[in-house]
Amino acid sequence: MGRAKKVVLAYSGGVDTSVCIPYLKEEWGVEEVITLAADLGQGEELGPIKQKALDSGAVVSLVNDGREDFIRNYAFPAIQANLLYEDRYPLSTALARPLIAKMLVDAAAEYGADAVAHGCTGKGNDQVRFDVSIAALNPDLKVLTPAREWGMSREETIAYGEKFGIPSPVKKKSPYSIDKNLLGRSIEAGPLEDPWTEAPEEVFEMTKGVADTPDEPDYVDIGFEKGVPVSLDGQALDPITLITQLNERVGGQGVGRIDMVENRVVGIKSREIYEVPALLVLIQAHRDLESMTLTADVTRYKRGVEQTYGELVYNGLWYSPLKTALDAFITETQQRVTGTVKVKLFKGSAQVVGRKSDLAIYSEELATYSSDDKFDHKAADGFIYVWGLPTRVWSENLRKG
Ligand code: ARG
Repeated sequence: MGRAKKVVLAYSGGVDTSVCIPYLKEEWGVEEVITLAADLGQGEELGPIKQKALDSGAVVSLVNDGREDFIRNYAFPAIQANLLYEDRYPLSTALARPLIAKMLVDAAAEYGADAVAHGCTGKGNDQVRFDVSIAALNPDLKVLTPAREWGMSREETIAYGEKFGIPSPVKKKSPYSIDKNLLGRSIEAGPLEDPWTEAPEEVFEMTKGVADTPDEPDYVDIGFEKGVPVSLDGQALDPITLITQLNERVGGQGVGRIDMVENRVVGIKSREIYEVPALLVLIQAHRDLESMTLTADVTRYKRGVEQTYGELVYNGLWYSPLKTALDAFITETQQRVTGTVKVKLFKGSAQVVGRKSDLAIYSEELATYSSDDKFDHKAADGFIYVWGLPTRVWSENLRKG
């Protein structure tokens, strides 16, 4: 059909993306399929995945490590911006998509491909994020989306794959659709499609149920520099280690689960379960440190920016002029967000119980009720007269009838 000659396909190792390989070649006349599996810390063995792509007909099978880039350039900015889509979801899946798109576009340039491809279906957010990100990074590249167009049922997909030596899944397929990376897990479908049905314990991997948590709290001191987490309990850690260790500690105390019904870009409401232990606690701690280090007006204005920023990330606009502009604002606000936050993790709850910063604009001398008080109480008098003047005039006017 002459759609493209050489294609870089985003590859997960699952049946659908494996079937994309022969499908692109047989049905759409693609000559060479190069697969790219992005290692974003999903904790899967990538060796067998690499081989599976070759067995399914890929000419080159790439496994690229994007973990450091992911945490530094996607997760940390999200923490600086306290991103919570619809006030709850910290965008663990959404943040990975623009990075995978970048990896695809880079590989296409390296191998001289004229198209990239992914195996997303037509109902989700991820197709939007991939397609828009790829178009932003290289508008000349074609994006092929076989699974969005082939119209095969699951059984038909498996049967099609078998013709080309792609083994049908050995395990009974889990009813859930799961996306996983270093930041967390997103779980949907199967019994979860009924929003009244509680998520069974078996869907969770990174977080303990409260019944299984220790009887002692775990206190963790999280150090930030310019809004970026840099240490745990005073020990400087690289981004991957910091997130990995914090996931363990937070998840081990039963913290980090979210159960919500969210609004997708394509207009559908969907029920999603998340476990995002480290990310949630980092946002909570970061926000607290901002309360020590930012002025009231910047803090309040930033809330609006955060809201817009979170929506644009969810909606696939990571590489957009609005995102770049908002980044400039966020970066400026973070220059003095440096300090340490103490979080108490216990029985499914995370509470900030202390915070300190050499750059704090919190002033004990001003806040204190003791004799050290430096606040000029007499100054309150004139201030209140002026502050309350419009209300006083309004009220006098009302009484006149
Ligand atoms: N609803 C989330 C999002 O759009 C996660 C979707 C990930 N996919 C999944 N199979 N659960 O960011």
